[in-house]
Amino acid sequence: MYHFEQSKLLQRLPEQFFASLVQKVQRLASQGHDIINLGQGNPDLPTPKHIIEELKIAADNPNYHKYSPFRGQQFLKEAIAEFYMREYHVEIDPNKEVAILFGAKTGLVEISQCLLNPGDLALLPDPGYPDYMSGIAMANADIALMPLKKENGFLPNYSAIEKDTLDRAKLMFLNYPNNPTAAIATKDFFDETVMLANAHNICVVHDFAYGAIGFDGNRPQSFLQSEGAKDIGVEMYTLSKTYNMAGWRVGFAVGNQSVIESINLIQDHLYVSLFSGIQQAAAKALLGSQESVSELVHIYEARRDKFIEKLHDIGWKVEAPKGTFFAWLPVPEGYTSEQFADLLLEKAHVVVAPGNGFGESGEGYVRLGLLDHEDRLIEAAERIGSLKIFR
Ligand SMILES: Cc1ncc(COP(=O)(O)O)c(C=O)c1O
Repeated sequence: MYHFEQSKLLQRLPEQFFASLVQKVQRLASQGHDIINLGQGNPDLPTPKHIIEELKIAADNPNYHKYSPFRGQQFLKEAIAEFYMREYHVEIDPNKEVAILFGAKTGLVEISQCLLNPGDLALLPDPGYPDYMSGIAMANADIALMPLKKENGFLPNYSAIEKDTLDRAKLMFLNYPNNPTAAIATKDFFDETVMLANAHNICVVHDFAYGAIGFDGNRPQSFLQSEGAKDIGVEMYTLSKTYNMAGWRVGFAVGNQSVIESINLIQDHLYVSLFSGIQQAAAKALLGSQESVSELVHIYEARRDKFIEKLHDIGWKVEAPKGTFFAWLPVPEGYTSEQFADLLLEKAHVVVAPGNGFGESGEGYVRLGLLDHEDRLIEAAERIGSLKIFR
């Protein structure tokens, strides 16, 4: 069989760091071990019933069996604008400031192709969600990393970035509540971001995937709540986490009109919009009862409390995450992230994600997803405790 060589674009794509972890997990599972997998970010609970019911009704609508409008249904864009006004008091023009996405991932990858030319520079959080890098690689653009350090609350320290770098940068990715560090951002930080972006003509892309998940009564701040943010950036939102709809693939970008137009334009060429039944169910999610969202946050917070308490019991002195469904935990002395993750996998059959997989500055940490029942999380902590590493 003839082997067709991959395009240069595909060859530039970063390696999937976690692929080897998945293989190790599969090997142990196939040997019959009871694995507790806290290594991924896949919400474990079902989509709320009223949203599923809406899809069932919508599936019968013959108009939806045809192609959807290219740029999505007007009713969904209006629902998104209403959602932003209700949740964040941010005014969004449904006609010019909304792009509907097949999940936030699609927008986060497309945005680099929309705005960057080969050799342009993008600022990236380190550690960070790996897909930002994929889009930048496709655009053949360059990267400058912004380390997220504990002493700065896992926010980038803008004063540590060289002026030349800031002048060259065209795009900046941010993500709060943060994957993987579980940190949340303050309004002051977003205000500072707007000022910096204005001073250096940088387009800010704020990934708000965990926008609904803040703990201890803290409601995560939308980037667009900062004055002037809409002029210099966009926010990407997803229904994957807020409504446990990861499999449905629905999200959206809101903000700067020129950026939204670029996203819509690239999508005109790549897709026809989402199945309208999904768009109708998404509108229901955004505008219907939000009780399921408070319940979900409550569940994650209760899991966090039980799990962190148990980790303290076994001697692992860690700080409680402030948002998201992740815990970002320092590895004990004498281990790299990967060595420690391997140890937990081999000896405790607990899967965690090594922090260096999210970037250099993730070294020294592991990420655990609180995406299993409380009793399984407690069992995971007990299994880790039985290795007697922390005493
Ligand atoms: C930080 C972050 N951004 C974006 C996404 C992707 O979300 P979606 O399911 O909407 O593509 C995820 C999913 O894990 C995420 O963790």
